[in-house]
Amino acid sequence: MCGIFGCILKTGNAASAIHKGLKKLEYRGYDSVGIATLQEDRLFIKKDTGKIDNVHAIHNLDDLPGGLGIGHTRWATHGAPYQVNAHPHTDCNNTIALVHNGIIENFAELKTELEELGHTFKSKTDTEVIAHLIEEELKRTDLSLVDAVRETVKQLDGSYALAIISVKEPDKIICARKESPLVLGVGKDSIYVASDIPAFLSETNKSVVIEDGEIIILNHSGYEIRKIDSWKEITREPKTINWAPEMAEKQGYPHFMLKEIHEQPLRLRNTLRLQNQYLELMTTFLDRAGEVFLVACGTSYHACLAASYMFSKLSFLATHPVIASEFVEQHGKSVNIDSTLLVVSQSGETADTLDAVESARLRAATVLGLTNIVGSTLTRVARVYICQQSGPEIGVAATKTFTSQLSVLTQLAIRLAKKRGKISHVEIEEIEEKLEQIPDIVESTIQHQEEKVKQLAKKYKGKQAFFFLGRGLSSAVALEGRLKLMEIAYIPSLAYPAGESKHGPISLIEQGFPVIFICPNDSTRKAIISNIMEMKARGASIIAIIEKGDKEIKKLADDYIEIDTELPEVLSPIPFVTPLQLFAYYMALECKRDPDMPRNLAKSVTVK
Ligand code: M6R
Repeated sequence: MCGIFGCILKTGNAASAIHKGLKKLEYRGYDSVGIATLQEDRLFIKKDTGKIDNVHAIHNLDDLPGGLGIGHTRWATHGAPYQVNAHPHTDCNNTIALVHNGIIENFAELKTELEELGHTFKSKTDTEVIAHLIEEELKRTDLSLVDAVRETVKQLDGSYALAIISVKEPDKIICARKESPLVLGVGKDSIYVASDIPAFLSETNKSVVIEDGEIIILNHSGYEIRKIDSWKEITREPKTINWAPEMAEKQGYPHFMLKEIHEQPLRLRNTLRLQNQYLELMTTFLDRAGEVFLVACGTSYHACLAASYMFSKLSFLATHPVIASEFVEQHGKSVNIDSTLLVVSQSGETADTLDAVESARLRAATVLGLTNIVGSTLTRVARVYICQQSGPEIGVAATKTFTSQLSVLTQLAIRLAKKRGKISHVEIEEIEEKLEQIPDIVESTIQHQEEKVKQLAKKYKGKQAFFFLGRGLSSAVALEGRLKLMEIAYIPSLAYPAGESKHGPISLIEQGFPVIFICPNDSTRKAIISNIMEMKARGASIIAIIEKGDKEIKKLADDYIEIDTELPEVLSPIPFVTPLQLFAYYMALECKRDPDMPRNLAKSVTVK
């Protein structure tokens, strides 16, 4: 769960290019940062703990000589975020430097063996063993750097994306990949390697995705890809990426999160333009499945939870939403050839999610994927996948990717309903018509309610805890609103299906305790009014998200946010979650938090 970046430039300074690339990857981790460059046969390294800007202010990361180098922005797994544990890591003689994203599971055994051979370790990381293993390979034989890397990675258990340089062969970067993302950027007079495309998108839009089990040799004349096992050379031409570089920038917003919330209408319009054949194919798989699991983590899991209601209500399909990290324990033994997993992961790289996929695949289950990243591991292991078309999401908090996921899942549920003929054409047509309007509804909600949400954040900023309650589909919205508030404003919060609140959590309520109710005008409205009364009777402050004109709830609530339309119930989650995303954002600002980089988190969680 780190960002790696490397480049070889015909002209210019590699260090500043790496610094710039790492800034784009900072969402992947920001405990520490480091850069290594080569000039002639000398290795130069700067690294320290802290965010890139802070480290740069102290060390000037641009001030390293040479046109070739590698860099890393870290999210600590093994070894605390101290300077000595920051990447790049080196061998005993400081002739090899490398950066790594992933986890080496057998590093302890390897380290013991290397120490017995006389190697001295400087850090507590799993990564450093790789540098010493390469050193050992080079010492024991007359292998080239690439051969030594190949022999080394064969000894590693776990996951890695690696970029390695050596003073002995100062014209190249060697890379290798297993289960951690790695992409090449191919410029006219430059070549890049990175964990993610936005890192080099301002320099080139020609990209090559590296597959698991591949090793890459980068030099001034280009790239060579080979299979680690067979040493077979792979020919893979660069593909053109159509994301404009500014799409990955803040475009004038103070934070990526706010930009991404505002971008939702546009993204939702894209998501409504998905290619029919993929939707149709996936619907056919779902229709034929013996049992369907909806598997994901975090926000993507909340999309799955909402989808389970949609599939049930529209297409009469029972599904099991499962938190990916629990999947193997809960269902690992019962999954079989008749099981289908619809796996949702915006990054397509979440380790817990991929673990669930792997175990299900071993039992011959069918895996369908919904992701935002084409070329991600999920797209490679899924039988069919759909790209949710959200564009790159940089803020650690998932916002636009959540609403795009909901949109795709709704479209699948509608298609399946049509296929199964379970609800009337008139009803389906009404839902489809409203679905087309959702981007406009979200746009108008942001336009008309953002200022009010901002004021609510000012009013409630001193509260120590919040409750989020909803019923039916809105219970998934409640969970998502609570996750957003907790992860970026660090305010402890609870979320429950509202009916469950009286079975325990209500004991927390005292005068002024803020409770946020999600109240679309659907079949749950009457019951939710009763729940509001229960809370009010005990002194809670009620903040209600309502459909415009809901006079009854307006009267009961201390504060309310209005959604500007009447919606069929399956469509309420997208517009109703929007004010909750904004609320979390403005609460984070009120609490002086950085909403784009919440502490202890990373955008893509590639460790289990
Ligand atoms: O990339 P994924 O959708 O698989 O990520 C899953 C979670 O890690 C992610 O949704 C996480 O909960 C976000 N920080 C939520 O904002």
